Amino acid sequence: MDPEYLAMLFDIQGIVVVITGGGGVLGGEIARGLASAGARIAILDISEKAAEATANAIQDAGGEALSVACDVLDRDSLLRAREQVLARFGRVDALLNGAGGNRAEATTGPELSFFELDAGAFESVLDLNLMGIVLPSQVFGQLMAQQGAGVILNIASIAGQRPMSRVPAYDAAKGAVVNFTQWLAVHMSAEYSANIRVNAIAPGFFLTQQNRYLLIDPETGEATERGSAIVAHTPLQRYGDPPELVGTALWLLSPAASFVHGAVIPVDGGFCAYAGV
Ligand SMILES: NC(=O)c1ccc[n+]([C@@H]2O[C@H](COP(=O)([O-])OP(=O)(O)OC[C@H]3O[C@@H](n4cnc5c(N)ncnc54)[C@H](O)[C@@H]3O)[C@@H](O)[C@H]2O)c1
Repeated sequence: MDPEYLAMLFDIQGIVVVITGGGGVLGGEIARGLASAGARIAILDISEKAAEATANAIQDAGGEALSVACDVLDRDSLLRAREQVLARFGRVDALLNGAGGNRAEATTGPELSFFELDAGAFESVLDLNLMGIVLPSQVFGQLMAQQGAGVILNIASIAGQRPMSRVPAYDAAKGAVVNFTQWLAVHMSAEYSANIRVNAIAPGFFLTQQNRYLLIDPETGEATERGSAIVAHTPLQRYGDPPELVGTALWLLSPAASFVHGAVIPVDGGFCAYAGV
């Protein structure tokens, strides 16, 4: 094997990657991993503190990072973030849309039936997960259209392909993210450049802040019935570990994925492949 060929295939040295939700668990882990591989990272997060923490961790490890407080649902906030990123790095090569999540108020359960779900809570989950990808794709995708190259990578979910019980707004929003990923892939190449690629990663179950209340009983610290069911339905018999998303993100951003476009790649320990028997 030619090591130079392998290095070229997965080379992301120096590319500028904007990561929304980069202060969160999965976005933060991917950000640190990509920075270790040489990418220059702009962390955009509504939590300034969380964005700074990820950027500091990258810098402490010898990488290059900028933190920007930004609301992905506010176009002006995104435009200001774009100015800051351009002032620091001069260009944007990739956008990783990682801001997203569910809300307890939009989750059905013994105390909250579907019939009583608050419409505002439902809409806020649709907004964050769908519009929170559409708006950054407009703002940063425009730069890619101007420069005739770029990569957009959305964090969807296996819930977008196989709806999970109890989280109807999240399921619907992630289903829309899968659909929008395919639409945007076709649109960007048809209208602007065949050097712009758009894909998504569909993570399976990773234990993080947004889903802990569903998977671990806060009183006993034991797995909930739902948590046990998830592990039982995952052929690899465990939750994912956030660093296990880095390789797929790196691959999709790198020249190794030069002909991968409009794809939604599951990273789920086999969850979607298993019919349950
Ligand atoms: N954790 C899982 O098992 C899992 C599985 C599949 C998909 N996902 C998806 O992965 C992505 C990251 O999830 P996570 O588990 O790391 O969640 P997380 O809550 O740790 O991270 C989300 C980040 O987004 C930020 N954010 C929220 N609203 C924002 C806004 N309006 N503008 C900018 N930033 C905002 C939060 O401050 C947070 O830092 C989400 O899209 C989530 O739906 C997670």
